[in-house]
Amino acid sequence: VPGPTPLDMARAFRSVRADPLSFLVAARELHGDTVSFPVPGPPALLLTDPLDVKRVLQTSARSWSKETVQYAALARVTGPGLLASAEPSWIEHRRVAAPAFHHERLAAVGDQVRAAARESIESRLRDVRDGDVVDVAALTHTIGLDAVGRALFGADLSGQAQDLLAATSSSADIVVRLGRSIVPTAEWAPSRTNLRLRSARRRLDRGAAEIIAQRRARHRTGGTTTHGDDLLGLMLDSGMDDRGIRDELVTMVIAGHETVAAALAWTLMLLAEHPVEQERVAAELAAHPGPVSLVGHREQLPWTRAVVDEALRLYPPAWVISRRSREPDVLAGREVPAGTLAIISPWLVHRRADLFPDPLAFRPERFVDGPVRTGYLPFGQGPRLCIGREFALGEMVVVLAELLRGSRLETPPGWVRPEPQAHAAVHPRGGMPLVVRHRGAA
Ligand code: HEM
Repeated sequence: VPGPTPLDMARAFRSVRADPLSFLVAARELHGDTVSFPVPGPPALLLTDPLDVKRVLQTSARSWSKETVQYAALARVTGPGLLASAEPSWIEHRRVAAPAFHHERLAAVGDQVRAAARESIESRLRDVRDGDVVDVAALTHTIGLDAVGRALFGADLSGQAQDLLAATSSSADIVVRLGRSIVPTAEWAPSRTNLRLRSARRRLDRGAAEIIAQRRARHRTGGTTTHGDDLLGLMLDSGMDDRGIRDELVTMVIAGHETVAAALAWTLMLLAEHPVEQERVAAELAAHPGPVSLVGHREQLPWTRAVVDEALRLYPPAWVISRRSREPDVLAGREVPAGTLAIISPWLVHRRADLFPDPLAFRPERFVDGPVRTGYLPFGQGPRLCIGREFALGEMVVVLAELLRGSRLETPPGWVRPEPQAHAAVHPRGGMPLVVRHRGAA
């Protein structure tokens, strides 16, 4: 299998750490669909052929685990929560959490997501004058956290928001750093990274303990038999211990707000760059003045949903998915041994011209007739598909509706797209400054 030589890797060392996404893009351009990286031991393969991707994530999923540096690093913050767990017992946790993401439940939390979006937009845009430049990435971050807090934990995180936001983003920072390190840092070592991680974890623990305690107290005084049917209530009723609940809570905050926030920031950028497409969203919203449903939004606003799907194709926040083989398997027509590392990047697969003609162009039409099946995996694929998929898609459409009913976005003069920064999610380096125009203003 073609790939860089050890010397190439040594030369690229700094750029891999600084910008791993561009490194993967260049590796694919240079070496083709399957790239082998020179590592000691079993092979490390970058896979971009949709058949190989499907094999690892779906058809042969039992043979591939999450025992990778990426997930080990995440587990240092989330513990063995749903996202990071490499154990087959992950399925038990998934069963407990699943009803919180069922259609009926999502339909019931629509009001909370709409309120989270509306309140953040009002408070941030209240003093903005027509034509001012606003960092919409900061806005989508606040909305992302608030929506997860209200919808899944019935908690108003706004009081704790600043601290939780700072703690999650600094732990995400550290996770990214750990995930990139060649030699794993011993957990006990008093290194700067470990000390920062410990402090971020303490803050996350405090926030989680507070949310759990509030719900237990509400239950004691409320005279109800269950703790409620949101995710927190389901976990408390399932008999999970506080440690396990804390792990899921932190998992959902990390997995559920950075991804949505980044995806929304890129979507808003694409709409600002494409006024015709943006006006079509506005026209669709004008034709549907009522509340947007979290689960029925595709029927209400098909074009807006297609915009979201296409933005997630061009800017998939989860830029890398890794797996390690438990047993030998066959990839790209060759047998690979147990221990093989598979690196899958939705970013690369989504930019294949054979799957998506003119792949760099923003064309929501691709998705108007429904989902594209082959090679489209912003939420992963197979048994470990994102549990928050429907929630995230609904939330994105709701936020677009709340924002674009009252505002029109434009790119500022001298516009240059912010660089994609591969962090926990791919977010815009330096934020997303866009011009806000009030709709209806002259
Ligand atoms: C899993 C992407 C929103 C919670 C995943 C995976 C991807 C992904 C690619 C699969 C990872 C793998 O197979 O290794 C995204 C994107 C989102 C998003 C792009 C937003 C645009 C959310 C939200 C939540 C969430 C809103 C929760 C509130 C999770 C969890 C898993 C997961 C718990 C692990 C599921 C399991 O392994 O059973 N996500 N996600 N995600 N996501 Fe999301």
